[in-house]
Amino acid sequence: MGWNSWNSFANIVNSQIVQQQAKALASNGMKEAGYEYVVIDEGWWLGERDGVGNIVVNSKQWPAIQPGQKDGDMANIAAYIHSLGLKAGIYTDAGHDGCSMYPDSGPKLLNTGSEGHYDQDFLQFSRWGFDYVKVDWCGGAKEGLSGAVQYAQIAGAIQRAEKTTGRKLYFSICEWGSQNPWYWGPGVGGIESTIWRTGGDIIPPVVESLHDAEHDKRLITAKNVFESFDTGMHPEAQHTGYYNDLDMMVMGMRGMTNALDRAHMGLWAISSAPLMVGCDLTRLSPVSLALLTNREALAIHNDPYGLQPIKVEEPTPGVQIWAKPMALAGRRAIGVLNRTGSAAQVKINWEKLGLKGTPKSLRDVWNGKDLDTADSSVSVAANDLALMIVDGEDKPASDHPASQSTVKGVHVRSGPTYARLLYSNTSGSTVVVRAKSTSGLSTSIALAPTAGLEIGTVGLILPRGTADLTFEDGHVVIHKLEVHGWE
Ligand code: GLA
Repeated sequence: MGWNSWNSFANIVNSQIVQQQAKALASNGMKEAGYEYVVIDEGWWLGERDGVGNIVVNSKQWPAIQPGQKDGDMANIAAYIHSLGLKAGIYTDAGHDGCSMYPDSGPKLLNTGSEGHYDQDFLQFSRWGFDYVKVDWCGGAKEGLSGAVQYAQIAGAIQRAEKTTGRKLYFSICEWGSQNPWYWGPGVGGIESTIWRTGGDIIPPVVESLHDAEHDKRLITAKNVFESFDTGMHPEAQHTGYYNDLDMMVMGMRGMTNALDRAHMGLWAISSAPLMVGCDLTRLSPVSLALLTNREALAIHNDPYGLQPIKVEEPTPGVQIWAKPMALAGRRAIGVLNRTGSAAQVKINWEKLGLKGTPKSLRDVWNGKDLDTADSSVSVAANDLALMIVDGEDKPASDHPASQSTVKGVHVRSGPTYARLLYSNTSGSTVVVRAKSTSGLSTSIALAPTAGLEIGTVGLILPRGTADLTFEDGHVVIHKLEVHGWE
């Protein structure tokens, strides 16, 4: 959760802008709600290196902020962000060149990527004090590189940098889904936690202060937002620590209505997608701010299982019921999405959400009030989303005990299907296991340490057809898989 400079500032980003945005984030209630990263996207570096290959930045763009600091040192802005109790993020490319979006909003800059300098650059980012790095793919795509190979090398460089400085450098992969990163992103290079972009940009940047015809005509539509959600649905790759990234948020930007802001926030929250806000925070409306800081929506987003929702029904084309399995037994978050141009009335069938009988409680998140569980009909305005939390009783799951890390007898006939994996990991640190099914499913799962006899659980969403599963790693004990049929 945090803010990223690209959507609203593109290549004009500089120290003053970042300071203003960080200050807004720290004082408008977002920081208290959990937004913590301030990420400087492309445009911070113009491609210059010194004789030994170290990155050189423009000293006017990144001057000293405090007495005693040097102009042209990125440690200045990282320290400023830290002084507000926030974390700092930076950006590079996996190839030789960056994107630079020429001629959109900046000069054509070559050599703004890190290829050939992975160890040097990631160590530099960490030494400057950055806590997060987004790694783009323009140069990689131009050179026809393999994403799985390059990002694994980068993960290695990041881990080495972390060891040297003792500072965590969170890895954000930005490969736009072009080489199916949901297959190799989870656990890439042995990394325990990461996000990967699943599609292109929701919109090209809208830099209000440029006042040029190109930027002025850019408007965000419902189609932009909904398509980003659709292309981001890869639930079998997403488990605690590994998340599909649906792109930086466009809430509060030009073209967004209150209804669309609500739908956008609801979809990103129910998907446990990164909430990297891309608007100018100094111009954020009270409505957008209230949505971004809505505690109940954020609790859905921050659910420990971090799963994506399952589409359980589409009673009429464009009116969809999405349900997210949550870590608490019998709990689901429900998003009723109306992608049509007129209001819709929808009846929710609890059986389809894997619940037995009438649920105990139903909560309307946007209005902060309890609803009558006997009445399961919901009305949703055009291009809007109703967000709810339901608590009930799970229908019995089918248990599949594991023998030597293999679970047999699973056959997911309708999917995607919710399952829970029960394990013990007494190694003292997170272990990344590769999960493979005879059906072809292959993904990595990060299993957090457990103490003593404690049983750990992670939520999984299994695609249709999933059969016998093997979890490859000697250091954890897999107890069983509980498969929850929802139909
Ligand atoms: C790509 C990325 C964007 C942004 C720009 C910067 O388009 O997908 O998120 O980083 O590059 O040029």
